[in-house]
Amino acid sequence: MRPILVTSALPYANGSIHLGHLVEYIQTDIWVRFHKVRGRQCLYFCADDTHGTPIMIRARNEGISPEELVARMHVEHKTDFHDFQIGFDHYHSTNSEENRLLSEQVYLANRQAGHIFTESVMQAYCPNDGMFLPDRFIRGQCPSCGTPDQYGDACESCSATYSPLDLKHPRCALCGTAPEQRESEHYFFNLGNFEAFLKEWTRSGALQVSMANKLAEWFEAGLKAWDISRDGPYFGFEIPDAPGKFFYVWLDAPIGYMAASLSYFNLRGIDFDRYWRQPDQAEIYHFIGKDILYFHTLFWPAMLKGAGFRTPTGVFAHGFLTVNGQKMSKSRGTFITARSYLKHLDCEYLRYYYAAKLTKGVDDIDLNLDDFIQRVNSDLVGKCVNLASRTAGFIHKQFNGTLSNRYPDDQGLFQLFLTEARTIALHYQDREYAKAMRAIMALADKANRFVEERAPWILAKEKRLEELQDTCTVALNLFWLLMIQLNPVLPVMAEKTRVFLNLNDMNWPEVLEPLVGITIQPFSALMQRVDPKKVDAMLEDSRETIPSPPPPPVALGSPDGKTSPREITLDTLMTVDLRVAKVTHAETVEGADKLLRLILDVGALGKRTVLAGIRAAYTPESLPGRLVVLVANLQPRKMKFGVSEGMILAASDGSGAPALLSPDPGAQPGMRIQ
Ligand code: 2FM
Ligand code: ZN
Repeated sequence: MRPILVTSALPYANGSIHLGHLVEYIQTDIWVRFHKVRGRQCLYFCADDTHGTPIMIRARNEGISPEELVARMHVEHKTDFHDFQIGFDHYHSTNSEENRLLSEQVYLANRQAGHIFTESVMQAYCPNDGMFLPDRFIRGQCPSCGTPDQYGDACESCSATYSPLDLKHPRCALCGTAPEQRESEHYFFNLGNFEAFLKEWTRSGALQVSMANKLAEWFEAGLKAWDISRDGPYFGFEIPDAPGKFFYVWLDAPIGYMAASLSYFNLRGIDFDRYWRQPDQAEIYHFIGKDILYFHTLFWPAMLKGAGFRTPTGVFAHGFLTVNGQKMSKSRGTFITARSYLKHLDCEYLRYYYAAKLTKGVDDIDLNLDDFIQRVNSDLVGKCVNLASRTAGFIHKQFNGTLSNRYPDDQGLFQLFLTEARTIALHYQDREYAKAMRAIMALADKANRFVEERAPWILAKEKRLEELQDTCTVALNLFWLLMIQLNPVLPVMAEKTRVFLNLNDMNWPEVLEPLVGITIQPFSALMQRVDPKKVDAMLEDSRETIPSPPPPPVALGSPDGKTSPREITLDTLMTVDLRVAKVTHAETVEGADKLLRLILDVGALGKRTVLAGIRAAYTPESLPGRLVVLVANLQPRKMKFGVSEGMILAASDGSGAPALLSPDPGAQPGMRIQ
């Protein structure tokens, strides 16, 4: 059988992994693990998607290089994936030499074959920042409904989409300057050249039917050439023979799949071309979200084809995640990062719950938290773990940990489990995990019924020892088969089972012989029940807190602090240390819609981090360089999102957006305000 190469979409390097991302990584990981336990050669690759303007700007705002930012996020992402048991064979980066080399190769081969052309393009340019502005970095009034402060490409109020050139009163989102229109030469990939090939590829069985239908609509609408270049400054790879022009991030991102594999193959002396040039030698599958279908089913196969590489065997799209039936929301606490989940809950609960919901379709899946608690507790703890926990003790107490020497009569259950395993394997293969989980739980029900009928606790009381050992032997064999079938979903629990049963592996071949005469380890809990309090704590942790309104005017002069005199003495006023500070970096705070985290330069007082409730009025990009007024001797306050070392002054009537107070130019960071 041909080896398989599998990928998941590459996460952007400027954001944390959250439960929405994990639908795809868990879906893919289960598929890969399934093939591995079935003995198929299967490799799983992914990487950070590192290039583009947002990453460049974020690094600039943090006062670090994009490379430093990308390196930091790489560690964070790898740790999150590892802790969710996502078993990549290699996790790479698109900002790598392998990716540069392959991007150039793919581009040059396409150029050579006549698929690239150049054309002059008019585009918004910020003279202050010295850069062309991507659509998302232009804000202005919607040309359709007039709502102010909309992105350059779409209105969040009326959903109209438009060209940034049509936006009224456009402003650079970074500095507020009105952009100019400038001309620049761009490089295009002529997608239209591939129409016949793409139509055929679409019908080759590589796509789900609903996705193939979507493509038919796109063919109908006509395939437009794709702009693959961006002008510098841009964090990415410079285009060969085009100084100052860079590959658009979406050109080198999917090539990152190849680069990740190349890095892995290079270390092991494996032939790259076997996977990427010879479709009869290997299979390639990409798992993606349905939102990035266009890139993966039109641009990507066309680019590969144009460069003489093979095309994917399959592209599998999935739907989005909702939590409790709604879009993930920071205010409801349902925008949950991988890390906040792991702080409270076991990764295998989520792996199982997603598996129990996933099909091969593109429907959205819902994480209903009450159902999550109920289902994990009932299926995994109630049906699977219990099977072992209520039988293993007898084997230890009465039989020195040893199973019966021959496999007892089990009313055909072992055979039935093996027969059913074939259907379950097909469900895994088809990505119909929900069906697989249902079938496994139906077997678990049968096994539990067997134990209840035989009632080993009564056999023990009545000292019917042979029957007792036989019953427990059957129960533990069936438990073993269940855990083998669940291994792709629950690798940690499967490994604990392996250790418990003293086995060499938990692989899943076609034929398995019952375990007899072996000595097993004492049973220890394989999984705890989901504690609803921990789910609540996770939501609470993820909930954005709206900063409490400022206290009423402080009665600093009042001896008891209660009489609130409106007057204070000059001496009292002088106890407040107000300083000029300069914002050096501003960023949003994960999980807090109202807050920005600011890093302030306070001259001789050094740097301060302040959490300010000003996000409604200011984008993080608009703040660096701005002077503000800081209460510098306020006691540091420990907030949910970190420590705030001071407070910046803003005017507000408590209802509308706050307006920052700023010293006139000429004031220097650290100057005392008096
Ligand atoms: O949509 C995204 O999150 C992209 N970073 C996915 C890239 S997938 C591949 F093409 F690299
Ligand atoms: Zn600007």
